[in-house]
Amino acid sequence: MSGTRRARLLVSGITESLEAALALADQLDEQATELASGALPVPSAAALDPETLGAVPADLAGDLDQVALALSEAGALARRQAPAFAGAGWDAPEWRGTLPAGGADPTPGPPVRPGLWRLGRILVPPLARGERTVEVPLAVPLLDAGNLQIETTRPRRGEAVGLVRGLLTRILASVPPGGVRITVYDPHELGAGLAAFAPLRVAGVVGPTLTSRARLELALAELSGEVGRITVERLAGRFDSLREREDAGLPRSEPWRLLVLLGWPSLPDEAARALDAVASQGPSCGVHVIAVVEPGGGGVDVPGGRAAGRLPNAETITAVELLALRGESDGGMPGGWRSTLSGLLGCVLDAPPPSVVVSDVTARVAAGVERAAARAPDLGGLLPAGLWEYESSAGVSVPVAHGPDGEVTLAFDDDTVHGLVGGQAGAGKSTLLLDVVYGLAARYGPDQLRFHLLDFKEGLEFAQFAARPGDPFYLPHADTVGIESDREFGVAVLRAARDEMQRRSVTMRAVGARDLRGLRAADRSSAWPRTLIVIDEFQVMLTPLDAVAREAVALLEVIARQGRAYGIHLLLASQTLSGIDALDATAGKRGSIFGQFALRVALRTSISESRVLLSTANEAAGALSGVGEAIVNRRNGHPIGNEHVRVAYPDPKVIAGLRERIEALVAQAVPPMRAPRVFVGHAPAVLADNPAFQALAGRPAPLPGEAAGDPLAFVGVPLDLAPPAVGVRLARLPGRHLAILGPLRREAVGMVQAAAVSVGAQTPRGGLVVDVVAADPATVAAAEVMADVLRRSGHPTHVTDVTGLRGVLGSAAAEIRAREEAALAGRGEAAAGMRLIVVFAMDAGRAGLEARDDASRRSGLDDLRTLTRRGPATGVHLLCWWRAPSRLVDDLGPGHRDDIAAWAATGLPGGDLFGLAGHRPVTAGTTPNRAVLFDRHAQAEPRTVVPFAPLGTGSAAESGAAV
Ligand SMILES: Nc1ncnc2c1ncn2[C@@H]1O[C@H](COP(=O)(O)OP(=O)(O)OP(=O)(O)O)[C@@H](O)[C@H]1O
Ligand SMILES: [Mg+2]
Repeated sequence: MSGTRRARLLVSGITESLEAALALADQLDEQATELASGALPVPSAAALDPETLGAVPADLAGDLDQVALALSEAGALARRQAPAFAGAGWDAPEWRGTLPAGGADPTPGPPVRPGLWRLGRILVPPLARGERTVEVPLAVPLLDAGNLQIETTRPRRGEAVGLVRGLLTRILASVPPGGVRITVYDPHELGAGLAAFAPLRVAGVVGPTLTSRARLELALAELSGEVGRITVERLAGRFDSLREREDAGLPRSEPWRLLVLLGWPSLPDEAARALDAVASQGPSCGVHVIAVVEPGGGGVDVPGGRAAGRLPNAETITAVELLALRGESDGGMPGGWRSTLSGLLGCVLDAPPPSVVVSDVTARVAAGVERAAARAPDLGGLLPAGLWEYESSAGVSVPVAHGPDGEVTLAFDDDTVHGLVGGQAGAGKSTLLLDVVYGLAARYGPDQLRFHLLDFKEGLEFAQFAARPGDPFYLPHADTVGIESDREFGVAVLRAARDEMQRRSVTMRAVGARDLRGLRAADRSSAWPRTLIVIDEFQVMLTPLDAVAREAVALLEVIARQGRAYGIHLLLASQTLSGIDALDATAGKRGSIFGQFALRVALRTSISESRVLLSTANEAAGALSGVGEAIVNRRNGHPIGNEHVRVAYPDPKVIAGLRERIEALVAQAVPPMRAPRVFVGHAPAVLADNPAFQALAGRPAPLPGEAAGDPLAFVGVPLDLAPPAVGVRLARLPGRHLAILGPLRREAVGMVQAAAVSVGAQTPRGGLVVDVVAADPATVAAAEVMADVLRRSGHPTHVTDVTGLRGVLGSAAAEIRAREEAALAGRGEAAAGMRLIVVFAMDAGRAGLEARDDASRRSGLDDLRTLTRRGPATGVHLLCWWRAPSRLVDDLGPGHRDDIAAWAATGLPGGDLFGLAGHRPVTAGTTPNRAVLFDRHAQAEPRTVVPFAPLGTGSAAESGAAV
């Protein structure tokens, strides 16, 4: 039954009882008149005086009993329908309880839904001598039923406002906290009459008082918009009212909204129509108007007889003085009231609630709202009982939140291919991502779903998906886990995803499949899992606008547009979507990427971000108040798709349990599952732990697509997915030296050591002789550690300090000449092993290189240049650290800058490297634990690497002193 019909039945039940009483009273009246002398005026019902009544004739006695019965039924009905807080007197014990039963803390069981709200008493005068005045509660329908209009005069306005105060107190105490939103329009007293509810402003229950017509017009537009939305979305042609929907077993999906008009506004046409529409259509959507109108207040025509401000769907309470003003006087006593419910019977309003009751209820509701906001639903209830039981051909989906209609599920499928998550700092973005990842990992097996998990902030949320010291758990679904990822690493992951799409497209063409489902059906050689790329704070990858950002945008666009067919999905989260240059500088990119993101989840944020994240007209996320509160929208952010939800909280105990269950499955898996490739931005690269280094066995490291004839001098780990180490080939060709550049000692020392040690590990015993110069005393220990490792590999290694530099260079130059002569003479120079000259901090030894030797007329610089220009062809290579690039250029000599073809720079701004990089812009390199590697012969662009850490740091596998 719709709410309004129910209300009509209640009202007619009461009025019929009362009318029966009234009819009888009229009859008695007539008899009394007849009995009297015939000159008595006709008394009104209210003015019936027992003393003037005659004895009840016998034939009426039975009727009288029936009337008494009807009255007591009317009273019982009013009391039953206005239970607990809806009807209790202000001194009733309910008001002194610690927690209202149906109110501030909802108790389990069906919610209390009062049908009537008590306002006062209806007085039924004695019907016969000796009888007493009978009182029936005056209770009106309101929530889910109708509106209320109180017509009064200026002097009695206070009583009307007191009535409203009592009614609001009853409603607030009766509905669950946050279940009602109140808007007050008060042009006369500016909200003073209802100031007691002000503490509910913070909780969002009561809005700021509207004092001007303009503000009221806005509020009316908003309310009528809500009514429209609820009608379309919730009632959807299936229900007549929210109450009916609730009776059908669906959860109450909307708060009640009360518009309290403490004065009838004179509104322009459009707004007047909006008010009329809200009052007419609102009640079935839980939107109600309570209006206090008075003559001269724009609401009551005097003496026109009719109230201009008559609300549709309203019960009306009218002060008798006003009736008199209108000329409708029925003889009611001044100070009394009439109501549409009781017809001509007089009414007495209850006193306004004591202020202590109001403040109690207010405080408890505010606390209840706060508690409800803090009490997030738990992820545990959303996890499946059995693991890995779902199948991903058509898509994947995961419940992560609770909404008005129960569980809220996010899907990555053909309709909602990609998802975008936004919200200000601390709003709960990363938590939502964890819900998604854990939820999906519980439902789908690693053969059904793969993840790339990238986090671009210091947050360590994703670290839990990779094995850590003391916690061997890893997420078997994850291909990569990036923590504090570098932008280049993110791009590499996107590149890998694009390559995977290409791989899939080849197979799909071969088997004639059009999408992932078809591919899976046609080709069972692989599970063809879906892939979800989750990127937290993805905007970092796109800032600043450089080559990395451009590539990232291009890859995002390709994946966004084509991912659907190949089962590759994106879930991107960001604090801010506005002001990402890389999206705005490339006209149309923002649209062409995010146009593909049908799924949006907006956590609390600013109105302007809400507009960017959802859609220009959608400010809903700006109105969210709590952590974990979100708007889920599956229609590209169009307001019609808004769903207000609470994101589940991943309780640590629940997560720990899930991890154990996954771990057990991983332990049993045959063949064993693969741990993710992990990239931790701040972690040092440790040579001894590096799989590429570990795989060396006296042979040159192979590189994909390259004949491995020459040793590769490792410098670091690429921000890439493979291979695990990169470096520079020391081939017997001009320019094949390696310069390490820049002021960062730790990084530079680590790279020099790694290069020399890795070359040693790729050269058989007897194939390498190393001379090491520690030109800066601070590098002597590092040189010794490195030399020890080389010697243990069987390579003669000699270490000297700066005083030996000149001698080392001289002997290298002499050896080069000797090798050249031997080659010219055709004497087996090829058999000569590699000679490696390693110099730490060449700048520190520069001064000693200028002077010429008296006998040979050669300077140290001449020998150095012999080495740089002619060494590689004879198998003599330089591995040297200069702190400043300008020193390198000086040392090589004018026009010879390219004599060293490969360098790795650390701690240098890109501008300093522009020339060395062949006039290519260099975008990275200034940060600690990063270096830029460029090899003119092997690379098109400089690339960022994580330099190997100095030997002896970070790994138990190495021995020796730290640098
Ligand atoms: N759904 C939720 N329910 C309850 N508490 C939550 C919820 N989501 C987040 N929180 C709380 O709020 C804190 C911040 O959440 P989270 O780190 O997910 O926010 P964020 O939006 O990622 O913030 P930042 O921008 O700083 O990364 C969490 O530590 C958590 O305690
Ligand atoms: Mg976060």
